[in-house]
Amino acid sequence: MKNNLLCFLGLSIIGIVSGDSCSLEISPPRAVVKFGDPVTVSCVASRPVRVLGWESIIAASHTQHDLSVQWRVDSLTDWIEEPICYGVFFTAPRQCEEKLNLVLYKKPDSVSISLVNHSSPVVEGREYQLQCEVHNVAPVQYLVLRWYREQTEVYNHSFSELTPATPVQVSSTLLIVPNRAEDGAQYRCEAELQLGPEGPQPPPTVLSPSLNIAVHYPPDFRSPKEEQLEVSEGSEVVLDCTAEGNPLPVYIWTSPNLQEKADDQPVLKDASLSPGVYTCTASNILGKKSKQFVIKHKSKGV
Ligand SMILES: *[C@@H]1O[C@H](CO)[C@@H](O)[C@H](O)[C@H]1NC(C)=O
Ligand SMILES: *[C@@H]1O[C@H](CO)[C@@H](O)[C@H](O)[C@H]1NC(C)=O
Repeated sequence: MKNNLLCFLGLSIIGIVSGDSCSLEISPPRAVVKFGDPVTVSCVASRPVRVLGWESIIAASHTQHDLSVQWRVDSLTDWIEEPICYGVFFTAPRQCEEKLNLVLYKKPDSVSISLVNHSSPVVEGREYQLQCEVHNVAPVQYLVLRWYREQTEVYNHSFSELTPATPVQVSSTLLIVPNRAEDGAQYRCEAELQLGPEGPQPPPTVLSPSLNIAVHYPPDFRSPKEEQLEVSEGSEVVLDCTAEGNPLPVYIWTSPNLQEKADDQPVLKDASLSPGVYTCTASNILGKKSKQFVIKHKSKGV
């Protein structure tokens, strides 16, 4: 396009200068524009020009009178736009050009989070992959993806090595080995476009919905050791078999002394338990554990 213009002006394309010795100044030198927003950038020449103009697919413009020319777009939607300001001067260097540093950005349409290949419950101590997907974001090189567990940032992922200017979909994977303390923890990921000081402040961000992860684990007794109880005859006996587990454990008590089954209660409380061995089993889908209680009567006369 510029070549056409230079031909029209009857000039040869030799020795086009850009950079410091160029007498052109773009203001602002870096423009960060939201997709669909208007933009206006000026190009100012510091010495007399024959022609000053903007080479651009859209909104090309030029002047033969002024020392300043604007590149103005009402709604910028062209992802590959690379406007260049050029000047043709009366004196050497006769041709100059400056490229506008233009960043057209678009916030992601959505950010989603999921557990990869999730069919069965999440089990303590096993490895799982969480995936965060960012849909339709540009330019991805400015994207930072942050992973959070509750309020804590656990990992971040940059995409600075990627170059496309057009919107893309990207994803990040977080490996987790959950423990029981993390049962019910909320995971989220956040996409942030770090567009620099010329960009919007604070940087545009989109947060994923939160993913709650229930961590399943087998029953564990607070004190797994066998318990010996010496009680006076007729006094109430309390056998506490409470175990922690997810899903909540169910309990079965067995003893030659128990006529009726005393199922599904973690604590056996009775004044009529006769001496002997009582076994409690706590179980859930991940396993079962047993614990023994031995009741002895205090010998009389002591
Ligand atoms: C997910 O499951 C599919 C099919 O079962 C398997 O091919 C793939 O490797 C799994 N991906 C991960 C990350 O485990
Ligand atoms: C990413 O996390 C590291 C620590 O893991 C931190 O030093 C760095 O500042 C973070 N990067 C961003 C862009 O927040």
